[in-house]
Parts: sequence; C-alpha cells; structure tokens
Amino acid sequence: MYSIEELSEQVEKALTTIEFPQEPNNLYDPIKYVLLSGGKRIRPILTLSSCNMFKEILSDAIYPALAVEVFHNFTLVHDDIMDNADIRRGKETIHKKWSNSVAILSGDAMTIFAYKLLVKTDRKFILPIIDIFNSFSLGICEGQQFDMDFEKIKYISPEEYTKMIELKTAVLLKGALQIGAIIGEAKNSDVTLIGDFGLNLGLAFQLQDDLLDVYGDTNVFGKKLGGDIVSNKKTILVVKAFCNAKGEQLNKLNMLYQQNTIDAEAKIEEVVKIFNETNVKEETELLITNYYSKAIESIEKISISSNRKDVLLNIANKIMNRNS
Ligand code: IPE
Ligand code: IPE
Ligand code: MG
Ligand code: MG
Ligand code: MG
Repeated sequence: MYSIEELSEQVEKALTTIEFPQEPNNLYDPIKYVLLSGGKRIRPILTLSSCNMFKEILSDAIYPALAVEVFHNFTLVHDDIMDNADIRRGKETIHKKWSNSVAILSGDAMTIFAYKLLVKTDRKFILPIIDIFNSFSLGICEGQQFDMDFEKIKYISPEEYTKMIELKTAVLLKGALQIGAIIGEAKNSDVTLIGDFGLNLGLAFQLQDDLLDVYGDTNVFGKKLGGDIVSNKKTILVVKAFCNAKGEQLNKLNMLYQQNTIDAEAKIEEVVKIFNETNVKEETELLITNYYSKAIESIEKISISSNRKDVLLNIANKIMNRNS
C-alpha cells in the first residue's frame, strides 16, 4: 500500500503531465496558474487512497483523480467571482489578476478538460463513474445557488444550512471516494459506506472552512479573513449566532446583516464580537467532532482488514487538524 506522501507525490506528478495548448494565452495561462498554485489536493488523494484500500495497482485511478482535482479547481475559479474573493492560496484570484470574463471562460474550459481526463478511464469502470461525476457536478451548482440565495435571507435554519453545504462541498468528497472504490472493485455495500464516510467528512470540512474564514491565520489559510461576513454568507457561525443571540445582541446582529452600508472592517469586528459572546465557535467545533466520528464509523464497517484502512484514516485525521 502507498503512504500519504507517496499518494500526494503521484497526484502532483500527474498534474504536471496534463497538457494545455499554448494559445490563446488568456484562456490557458489562468488554468495553469490555478492548477499549479498549490492546494491541498485532498480530493484526488482521497480517490487514490480509496482505490488503494481495495487494490494495489492505482494506475486506473489516476485520470479520474485528476479529473476530480481539475473540476474542483474550476469550481474555485467561479466561486471566487461569485464570492468576490481577491485572494486564494495566498495569490490573486483569476478574476482579479485577469478579469471576470477570463475567469468565466477559463473555468468553462476547465470543466471540459475535467471530462477529457475522465473519459480516459478504463471502459470497464466508465459508466458508473460518469454518473457519479455528473451527479456531484449538478449538486455543486445547486449548493452554490443556495449559498448565494441565502446571502439575501437573514434566517437560515441549521437544516437548510446543512443541505446547502452537503451540496456545495460534501458531495464532491463523497464522489471522489466512491470513484476510487469503484476502480478498486469494491463491493457495492463498501462503495456506499465509503460514500457515507465522504459525506460526513465533507460536512465537517465545510464547517472547518467556515471557522477558518473567521478564526484562521490568513497567511496559512491563504484567503482573506472575514470574507464570509462581508458578503452576508450564512455560515454555520451566523446560523448559530442567530439561534443563540438574545435581546440587544440579536438586534445588533439583525442590523449588521440588514444593511450593506457599514464599513467592511467595522462589520467584521462587530460580528466576531457577537460570535465570541454567543459561543458559536465552540459549538461548531463540537459539531465537527460529531461529523468526524460519524465518518469514522462508516469506515469501520467496511468489509476489509483494518490495517488497509489506516492510510485513509490518517488522511481524514490530517484533514480534521488542518489550518489551511
Ligand atoms: C476549498 O477547498 C473549497 C471548499 C470546499 C471549502 P480546499 O480547502 O480543499 O481548497 P484547496 O484546493 O486546498 O485550495
Ligand atoms: C466552497 O464554498 C464551495 C465551493 C467552492 C464549490 P466557499 O465559498 O466557502 O469556498 P472558499 O472558502 O471560497 O474556498
Ligand atoms: Mg462560495
Ligand atoms: Mg468562496
Ligand atoms: Mg469558505
């Protein structure tokens, strides 16, 4: 079996082998820029690791793993336009460095490249894999639309929030893992279990992302802190703060999420103060631990020897202790 470091090396190496045409520069330069700008490569590593749980040889999983990473990067390029984000992975975002139009078109081309990589998968596995890919792609679009719709709605229930992050984030981790398991020729029941693992890991992952957007270290996280607050995102912190706030606190929160005239830095400061007073950080950390435990339970039920599960469990553990 491969170690995490070896899996990660395989992903990095394979990414450099994707060939893009030279021209037009303004279409392909941004794609190369984003793909080689770092990133944790969590999803392709999950695909390879999931495959490796069931099978020694990973060559059939490389192209779909790359397809997943290219697709993920495409979602980031368009997400940064939608979220008006200037910095990602510590670098200027494409729409900022080039323009919105360039970012839209480069993103479109990236989806096509993702599918070009995907169809290089061995015929034996291709149909269920395309099915999974299509289903998470559409899921992400739905989740992203809910995410934007929620900017304009003040009260979002924890259930509505969970549905939104399941779609925008968790289905991709689930799909990346299931693709790996299918190529590893896992039993159907194990493909389902590894999907359940991915879904709960993905929910925990987005909760962490919401936390890091406020409480992270911008130099390590690589994104501008407080961006979610400024754009009225209904993160887990806001959803919980609206549930917990009382009296004057609640009035203040209502006011802060109502008007768009308030200065960005002042808004961040005021909102974070209410987050701190309403204990939402601690509650979110607890929720993350719960989703993580649920994720681990699914892995434990998979019908292979426990030592083959160690690498995937270590990856999950590393993800849960991330600060970037
Ligand atoms: C960012 O994903 C988008 C979310 C789902 C929160 P990652 O945190 O995996 O981003 P990179 O690829 O490592 O930059
Ligand atoms: C993540 O949402 C979902 C997708 C990118 C599809 P965010 O908007 O929270 O992701 P970041 O924080 O910009 O990476
Ligand atoms: Mg977003
Ligand atoms: Mg964003
Ligand atoms: Mg975020």
